[in-house]
Amino acid sequence: MVKSRELTSSSASHTLKRTSDYLAAPRIHLWPRDSRSETSEQGKTGAMAVTTTADPVASQYERWIYPRPVEDLSVAQERHLRAGCDPARLSAAYWPDRPPRAAMKILVAGCGANLAARYAFHYPESHVVGIDISAASLAHERHLKEKHSLSNLELRLGRLEDVARQDESFDFIDTSGVLHHLPDPAQGLRALGSALAPDGVIFVMLYAKYGRTGVYMLQDLFRMMELEQGEQDLAAVKACLSTLKPDHQIQRYLRQSNDVDYDAGLVDTFLHRQDIPFTVRDCLRLTEDAGLAFQGWMENFFYYPEAQIPRTAPFYAYLDALPERLRWQAMELMHGYVSQHAFFVCHADRDPATYRITFEADEFMRYIPVPRWDLAVRDAPDGLLVLERAPYPPLPLSRPQSLILRQVDGRRCIEDCVRQAGFKDPPDVALRFCRSLFQDLWRLGLYDYRLPQSIADDTVPRKRQMDWGALIEGKPLSIQPGQ
Ligand SMILES: C[S@@+](CC[C@H](N)C(=O)[O-])C[C@H]1O[C@@H](n2cnc3c(N)ncnc32)[C@H](O)[C@@H]1O
Repeated sequence: MVKSRELTSSSASHTLKRTSDYLAAPRIHLWPRDSRSETSEQGKTGAMAVTTTADPVASQYERWIYPRPVEDLSVAQERHLRAGCDPARLSAAYWPDRPPRAAMKILVAGCGANLAARYAFHYPESHVVGIDISAASLAHERHLKEKHSLSNLELRLGRLEDVARQDESFDFIDTSGVLHHLPDPAQGLRALGSALAPDGVIFVMLYAKYGRTGVYMLQDLFRMMELEQGEQDLAAVKACLSTLKPDHQIQRYLRQSNDVDYDAGLVDTFLHRQDIPFTVRDCLRLTEDAGLAFQGWMENFFYYPEAQIPRTAPFYAYLDALPERLRWQAMELMHGYVSQHAFFVCHADRDPATYRITFEADEFMRYIPVPRWDLAVRDAPDGLLVLERAPYPPLPLSRPQSLILRQVDGRRCIEDCVRQAGFKDPPDVALRFCRSLFQDLWRLGLYDYRLPQSIADDTVPRKRQMDWGALIEGKPLSIQPGQ
């Protein structure tokens, strides 16, 4: 049953009287910072204290802690970090110019109930700081800290906007699912940037506008119904969801989201009071507004045409000709269903040569291919390989592609893989073939690349000249990827 609401005098000033008022009402409520009531926890936590009363975001997460609290981080299904942003598994994407580091200073900004403890559990040699405005969420993090004896975990009650301290900087900052709940996301990201080490990386996950269209339609609906965040309001949400038609915009999201099968997740999704969705262009602007540099997408698959459109499609060439940033925006519009944008940023003055992956110059032949941690390289009949990375479709490889990828061992560069595979082709043929193959593998989200300087000099000499002399004879590679 949907509850009928009686408006109290205290809410009357916010009351909308006519349908047209609802439609005109701003969906996002910005709460002036000076309206927050601050309690003094400073001495105890070393952090600025926070609101729990006037700030609707803080009071939501105080009552509905997010995500669902995990009881034991050591059980098999919990031995992971959320959203695949793990800096050990993705070190080739974050820091392609250097070997992975075990000991880091990690900040989990807006850690919620589990995430800071997960990092501390997975990175025993690192020092992990978790910060959140929800004391209830931090209480569960503390429970996990005690349960797993995580002496490397430090928890702070506070706003991430206040994180900058003169005396500390972090190698890696995770802020997933948080900045879109801030009154001023750019101010929040700027604050995190000021706490970032010179070659540090910030992982950001933001809600995507188009893929969550159905969510925002229902948020608007529930706001019209003046639902708040109580048990009755939640019951109304559940009842409403169960009556929606099978072709409502929300249905795909409901099938795919992990957040719609528990109460705090439903509140977070449908009854949030401050939820600003982002397009690709918004993500890029946010990064610039925060004075940082955009480094890359977590899953290239969604941002390049290779994965979605056959090269023979008449419009492929139009998309492929776009400048890279527009191509990302175009792909977002073509997909229509990406519900989160996950990306990583760094200091604007970090040298792009230390992290930029490009296939324009022939130097890409020195890149060392590193498969994504969850890529399965499977044998198929006739010595061929198939690349499988769920949820993407399997990618069957041709013979020359298979021969080359069999040589990938995490240390060999592309040029050496080609050589080891026994090809003896003219340089231009090999270059063309490899450029197409390895760019595709990167854009499909299957491989990252390490730069030559990430490997000890004795293994891959930095300044070695390309030596194609040995590749003059032999069978040409002139088979296009995908054939
Ligand atoms: C959707 S949850 C995400 C939790 C966690 N990052 C994860 O991915 O599991 C958002 C969290 O950010 C916290 N939060 C919201 N605004 C914040 C702020 N200004 N400073 C610090 N934490 C904040 C909330 O209390 C909540 O725990």
